[in-house]
Amino acid sequence: MTADDVVPATVAQANAFAALDRSEGIEPVEPTEAYWTRLRTRHHHFLTHDPGGSWVAEDDGRIVGIALALRREQLWGLSLLAVDPQAQSAGVGRRLLDASLTYADGCERAIILSSQDPRAMRSYATSGFELFPQVDARGAPDRSAIPAGAPRVRAGGVDDVILADTVDRQVRGAPRGPDHVRLATDLRTFVVDDTAGCGYAYLRDDGIVMALAATDDDTATDLLWACMGAVADRGGTISVDHMTAEQQWAIRACYQARLVVAPSGPVFWRGATPPHPYLPSGAYL
Ligand SMILES: CC(C)(COP(=O)(O)OP(=O)(O)OC[C@H]1O[C@@H](n2cnc3c(N)ncnc32)[C@H](O)[C@@H]1OP(=O)(O)O)[C@@H](O)C(=O)NCCC(=O)NCCS
Repeated sequence: MTADDVVPATVAQANAFAALDRSEGIEPVEPTEAYWTRLRTRHHHFLTHDPGGSWVAEDDGRIVGIALALRREQLWGLSLLAVDPQAQSAGVGRRLLDASLTYADGCERAIILSSQDPRAMRSYATSGFELFPQVDARGAPDRSAIPAGAPRVRAGGVDDVILADTVDRQVRGAPRGPDHVRLATDLRTFVVDDTAGCGYAYLRDDGIVMALAATDDDTATDLLWACMGAVADRGGTISVDHMTAEQQWAIRACYQARLVVAPSGPVFWRGATPPHPYLPSGAYL
């Protein structure tokens, strides 16, 4: 992939996910300028930090697919795999995945957050990954259910990257490095750093909890409540994604806040199982 591929690759990506939405009976939302900017920023981030994990598929000079993967120390993660609907089911996705997995050579652990597309799930399951079912939670958090006050949680930012990387090494065996800088620059950041535990959470404007990790489940729960409180304060809705059976602490809090929990695409791991006090980010794992 080169910088010239970014714009056509975002179009292939948007077309692929709009078609996936329609196949699941969901009418896709019209992409806004902010959406295109977010996609382009993400693609450039990968080209800068993970050029070896950034691949496109071309057909007759047209970009028809994209795969983005990151490598942070011993962890490889697939951030994106998408094929334009006109080119799907012809082996392009499999070849993109194979190319992007060459970037995992020598890594101890690998993670993929999958959609519910059966072609995606088959490709990951037959590439040495183990499947772990996941649920997502959505809705307006019930203010009265949120525990009063969260004195441990403070506002965070780019100054907390070293702390966050220390937590990541403990929880998922690898830091985020430049991904923390990206997330902390763009998103509201919450941090806990006391004798009982450490952790961080990122909350996007539209209410998506983008990533959360902590040294223990209680700290992770406090961080999730802080996200819920911030969303409830502005009368918005929250999305808490990527919960496996290991995230009972999060599932309990989501039900307590009266969110709607429903099945989503699975997470696939190779060389590890899902860490407990961890909610990965779709884009940055
Ligand atoms: C998922 C996606 C990337 C796969 O790419 P693709 O080019 O369409 O898929 P491929 O032709 O490479 O097929 C992949 C595998 O699925 C199999 N497959 C094809 N149709 C299938 C179906 N209807 N059900 C189950 N498996 C199917 C193929 O045989 C192949 O397996 P194999 O290599 O062992 O034979 C693409 O369809 C897509 O962009 N989907 C929407 C976005 C998405 O969900 N992305 C994944 C995000 S994690």
